[in-house]
Formats: sequence, structure tokens, C-alpha cells
Amino acid sequence: MNTILITGASSGYGRETALYFHEQGWNVIATMRNPSAADLPESERMRVLQLDVTDPDSISAALGAAGPFDVLVNNAGIGAVGIFEAMTMERVRRIFETNTFGVMAVTHAAVPLLRAQGSGLVINVTSSVVLGHMPLVSVYKASKMAVEGFTASLALELEAVGLEAKIVQPGYCPTTRFAANVGPVDEFLLEPYSAFSDKILGEFAHQEAVTTERHIAEAVWRAAHDTTGQLRFPAGPDSVSMAQAR
Ligand SMILES: NC(=O)c1ccc[n+]([C@@H]2O[C@H](COP(=O)([O-])OP(=O)(O)OC[C@H]3O[C@@H](n4cnc5c(N)ncnc54)[C@H](OP(=O)(O)O)[C@@H]3O)[C@@H](O)[C@H]2O)c1
Repeated sequence: MNTILITGASSGYGRETALYFHEQGWNVIATMRNPSAADLPESERMRVLQLDVTDPDSISAALGAAGPFDVLVNNAGIGAVGIFEAMTMERVRRIFETNTFGVMAVTHAAVPLLRAQGSGLVINVTSSVVLGHMPLVSVYKASKMAVEGFTASLALELEAVGLEAKIVQPGYCPTTRFAANVGPVDEFLLEPYSAFSDKILGEFAHQEAVTTERHIAEAVWRAAHDTTGQLRFPAGPDSVSMAQAR
């Protein structure tokens, strides 16, 4: 029986991926910042561990307690919407600490464990923002583009030791906690840009909800079972059509 370890499994795509793999008979290690808030079924195949991807002690404690796993999904992430000029550098660094350095830190801790067991796969969750021109998300996009480049290069070196790395690129889904976690957008707008940002925010508000949590869980499943060497898995109809338009 296979085991998957997922970061950010308290809600959204990470939680749905945990539920989906559990339904398919896998062992699931669902990690999250606050395990007391876990909303997952009681099962001997579902373990919940504390893991904050920005905290090195938390990462080593979680991986130390996890035991062997076959697939690591770096899903934890936070968004940022606004005019770059209006962002503070503190916020820019916070986005990168979670979305980029968090992915690298968990991967850095996991690879020696996977290499020692002789097999394993790292799946990094980026976003459809890497596939198209996306205004008002410059910092978020940069944090995910960095993960795209990191994973593409990492995949080549992991192959040399019998391991794999892949990317899942989710489309837009308004039903996860992602939008709420972005916080108030007004804080990051500036008057000279207002005609531009009003237009873009209006378009965001009328975007059709085409990606679901289940689309992402199924894409992670396809990535986990892929034997063709495919690196990128656009997930959700909006992301798939953006990938096809490139
Ligand atoms: N929803 C979308 O439209 C969309 C589109 C493309 C890509 N994505 C990406 O998909 C991934 C999942 O997002 P989602 O939509 O499912 O949003 P979500 O419901 O907000 O889930 C994000 C998860 O990340 C966790 N997290 C945040 N900071 C963390 C940290 N320092 N350590 C560990 N966990 C942390 C959150 O945990 P807490 O409960 O502790 O806050 C939460 O469980 C993210 O990487 C996001 O960038 C989302």
C-alpha cells in the first residue's frame, strides 16, 4: 500500500487530495499548521501531523514522525493580489517564505529520506498564473514561477538517483479558503492605477468557477501514477485550456 504526505491539508486542494487518496485505499499523512482544526475522517490510514512549511523545526519533527512515504505533495500556499508598488517588502518576503522557500525546505528535508528508500516522487503545486498574462498577482506569480523552474531542474537531478519530481498547475477555484486568506485587496491598491485595477478586479469577480477541488485531487492522482515522464499537469478546465493555448 502506498503512502502520500501532503502539506496544507487543512482545507481546499490539500484536504480534497487527502480525502481522494484515502478513498482510493492509500495511507495519507495530512500535514497542517493546526492539527486541532483537521476536518478529515478518523481512520488508521489517515494520520494528521503538525507542519508549518516556514518553520525548520516543524518540518524536521513532521518528517521524523511520518515514517516512510512514497509521494510528497507540496501544496501549502498563500495568495497575494494587488499593485506591486503598494505591497510591502515584508509581505513579498512572506509570500516567498511560504510558496517558494517552504516548498524548497520540505523538499530538502524529504529527498534524503526518499533516496534512502530508493524511490519517491515530489509533486509541487503551482498555479495556472504561470501559464498566462496575469495582472495584479506579480508577487504570487513570481513565487510560483520560481517553483516551476526549481522543479523542472530538480526533476533532472532526481532522475539520476531514481526519484521523480512533477508539477500540478491548478486553475482558479473560489470555494477553497484561498481568496479569504489573501485578505482585503484594498490595502494593496493605489489611486494612479485605479482605472486599471478596477477593470481587472471586475473581471476577477465575474470569472467563471471552473476548477474544483476534485479536479486537483484527480490531477495529483494522475501525476502520482504517471509513467510517461510528463512534468507538468495543468488541472481544472481553465488551466488546461490556458496550457493548450500556449
Ligand atoms: N484556489 C485557487 O484559485 C488556486 C489556484 C491556483 C493555485 N492554487 C494553489 O493551490 C494550493 C492550495 O490552495 P487552496 O486553493 O486549496 O487554498 P486554501 O484552502 O487556503 O489552502 C491552502 C493551505 O495552505 C496552508 N498553509 C498556508 N501557510 C502555510 C504554512 N506556512 N505551513 C503549512 N501550511 C500552510 C493553509 O493552512 P492554514 O489552514 O493553516 O491556513 C491551507 O491548508 C496553494 O499552493 C495555492 O497557491 C490555488
